[in-house]
Amino acid sequence: MTDQIGFFDAIYTQRAIRHLKPDPVPRETIERLIRAGTKAPSGGNSQGWKFIVITDPETKSAIAEYYLQAWEMAYGNQNPSPPNIQSHVRSSADYLARNMADMPVLLMACIHHDGSPSTITRGSSIYPAVQNILLAARALGLGSAITTLHKRYEKEIKDLLGIPDNVETAALLPIGFIQEGYKYGPTRRAPVSEVTYWEKWDES
Ligand SMILES: Cc1cc2nc3c(=O)[nH]c(=O)nc-3n(C[C@H](O)[C@H](O)[C@H](O)COP(=O)(O)O)c2cc1C
Repeated sequence: MTDQIGFFDAIYTQRAIRHLKPDPVPRETIERLIRAGTKAPSGGNSQGWKFIVITDPETKSAIAEYYLQAWEMAYGNQNPSPPNIQSHVRSSADYLARNMADMPVLLMACIHHDGSPSTITRGSSIYPAVQNILLAARALGLGSAITTLHKRYEKEIKDLLGIPDNVETAALLPIGFIQEGYKYGPTRRAPVSEVTYWEKWDES
């Protein structure tokens, strides 16, 4: 496993990889990813994050059941008008929803809070860490993807994992070695010119 990829190569090719081998990921590797996460900024350097590394088959199966149910409600048969997403994203995400229990590691990123309602500001103190983890996985050649569908079962999953009241889950990341036939590659994104205004909002 090499981590000699260029900085911008890593950013430009970090995409969701949901087809993972069941082979275990060494503990040191997971700790290395989390270390990268903990180098991220957080409001006031509060570092209110906690990461739960889930490898126990029973716990993974329980989370997988909730996740599949959430997927079906949002994008599957249980939603009469599912959101329109690109077909390759749908089939990849559908694969993950049906195989979550077989992912070798499920990493739950969590954030402490003071009991106030969840806001974008709270999220902004955990998602930079999540992105660092995704980039570190990409640098090491491990597959991963940020997922949030489990949030539909926040209470149930918090109970399952023993997460206290003043902590919210933010993202569930399957992590593992990539299946043959799947690989990192350039992501498809709108060009800078389409998403950038100079000085002021300008739709002209
Ligand atoms: C906030 C957020 C939530 C997401 N939730 C899910 C999810 O629940 N399940 C999933 O399979 N992918 C999820 N994704 C991954 C997106 O589908 C993916 O990043 C997007 O389709 C771009 O794919 P690419 O990186 O392969 O180009 C999420 C991404 C973000 C940023």
